[in-house]
Amino acid sequence: ERDKSDKTYHKYIERISTLPVWGEDPRDKLYKYQNFWFSHYYLERIMFAQEHFRAQSSDIILSSAPKTGTTWLKALAFSIVTRNCFDDSMNPLLTSNPHDCVPFVEVDLAQNPPNRHLDHPLISTHIPYISLPESIIASGCKIIYICRDPKDVFVSMWQFACKVTQPIPLEMAFEMFCGGMYLYGPYLDHVLGYWKASLERPDMILFLKYEDLKRDTMSNLKTLAKFMGQPFSEEEERNGVSEKIIQLCSFEHLSNLEVNKSGKHRPEAPITVPNNAFFRNGKVGDSENHLTLEMKKCLDGIMEEKLRDSGLNF
Ligand code: A3P
Repeated sequence: ERDKSDKTYHKYIERISTLPVWGEDPRDKLYKYQNFWFSHYYLERIMFAQEHFRAQSSDIILSSAPKTGTTWLKALAFSIVTRNCFDDSMNPLLTSNPHDCVPFVEVDLAQNPPNRHLDHPLISTHIPYISLPESIIASGCKIIYICRDPKDVFVSMWQFACKVTQPIPLEMAFEMFCGGMYLYGPYLDHVLGYWKASLERPDMILFLKYEDLKRDTMSNLKTLAKFMGQPFSEEEERNGVSEKIIQLCSFEHLSNLEVNKSGKHRPEAPITVPNNAFFRNGKVGDSENHLTLEMKKCLDGIMEEKLRDSGLNF
């Protein structure tokens, strides 16, 4: 952990103290910065990354708002780019959580730039498009973004928060989510930022939806591989390489690995996440089982209003 007396971080901490804040409990407080809400822990590091992170043109950025399928995207992208690096039985995904295979800009790289030397070009982030470190856009590196129906994102986040931090009433969590007070939220603004950028720069930004990935994993996997400049060859197709990747990264397979049943992610961080919290049930439409009809209507209404004329829908 960095030295708390570090002058650079002190500067960010001072800046954060001047920002609009939401919440009472220091563990849950959110700060509004560049129109999005962040926890103190992430915001210090995002500010640091904005100033110091240097992207390389060969980097491939995996971006998402939390609970939209990040873990799955990391596993798939990692499998694609390392498919000729290991024997099947030695694949790091069998013994490490996908989040431990791809460095995270806000934490791993903000504090420790050498963490990027992992023999693959993947880097992940939850930073909204508008707040990305400038070098990510300037370097021309590729960005892959994944998003998901807001109703399922909300339920997934609520269940995650209850498991990892403390139980919070559904109604209270729902009000916060609808008001945009969601880690890295407002969620739909996060999505729209990347959506608009992907329309402007389709060769640089690949925009994916969790629902499409579930419905047709194979064609989305091929799109991903091609976008990353590593399409499957005819020989690989004949040898079933893409099928193997899909199986390796499937919810059923990953969630049943010992590392994901009993391991922990970032044991040194203020909040340690058990790896099994990243795998709940991995279904589309599970929000139906948790939201009242009014809640569903309310979120559908917000979605309709926010996404109107954008060309995006869920
Ligand atoms: P649910 O809570 O709806 O089950 P993130 O990875 O961005 O934190 O998102 C977590 C969501 O992705 C959780 O959704 C989790 O179950 C689901 N998920 C994790 N791994 C997955 C996989 N391999 N395939 C499909 N969904 C997966």
